[in-house]
Amino acid sequence: MNKELNLDVKNILGLKLPTDPRWVNLAEIQLEEILTDHAYCEQKAATTCITLITKNSEKELMVEELSPIVTEEWGHFRQVLAELKKRGLKLGRQRKDIYVNKLLQFQKKDGGPDDRFLDQMLLMALIEARSCERFKRLSEGLDDEYMRNFYRKFMESEAGHYTLFITLAEHYIDKTTVRKRWQQWLDHEKILMKSEEVRGDRIH
Ligand SMILES: [Fe+2]
Ligand SMILES: [Fe+2]
Repeated sequence: MNKELNLDVKNILGLKLPTDPRWVNLAEIQLEEILTDHAYCEQKAATTCITLITKNSEKELMVEELSPIVTEEWGHFRQVLAELKKRGLKLGRQRKDIYVNKLLQFQKKDGGPDDRFLDQMLLMALIEARSCERFKRLSEGLDDEYMRNFYRKFMESEAGHYTLFITLAEHYIDKTTVRKRWQQWLDHEKILMKSEEVRGDRIH
């Protein structure tokens, strides 16, 4: 891992609550569940980016930057799918995404278009940041060296995505507003993480 990425990952630890260390051990014994859930996280990342593009087509930089992310996230989905197949495991049904659903409740309902756009960017940044942190845990804590490397690559990608969503937010909205709202999202996520039970069948 290069030095620059190390810094990115360090920033992500702007997350206010680290993952419970027991999570990796639980995830390790439910790999089929984790891979299935992970596959759908990638699918949702790709489809959300497509929706962001179609709903914000006037935002040229965003369209330009998110278009390749769609391809990248879909590539991630295919990689996880291939991993399941290789292991003779099945892609199960999509699960209810409790983490994301609870985060969605924090989006401003009464704001203007800029507020909504900002929250969409920060929500994406937060999901990428937490995913990155979880992949980092897997890349450090799994017994299987192949799987540690598998997750290290995902960690690196999601670190880049996290910074991209923050950068895009700051391109369209003034920095002070972005930073202030970002802190509120981080505080909210901390409370949410604290209240959730630790379960090894989900990425989040
Ligand atoms: Fe991804
Ligand atoms: Fe991503």
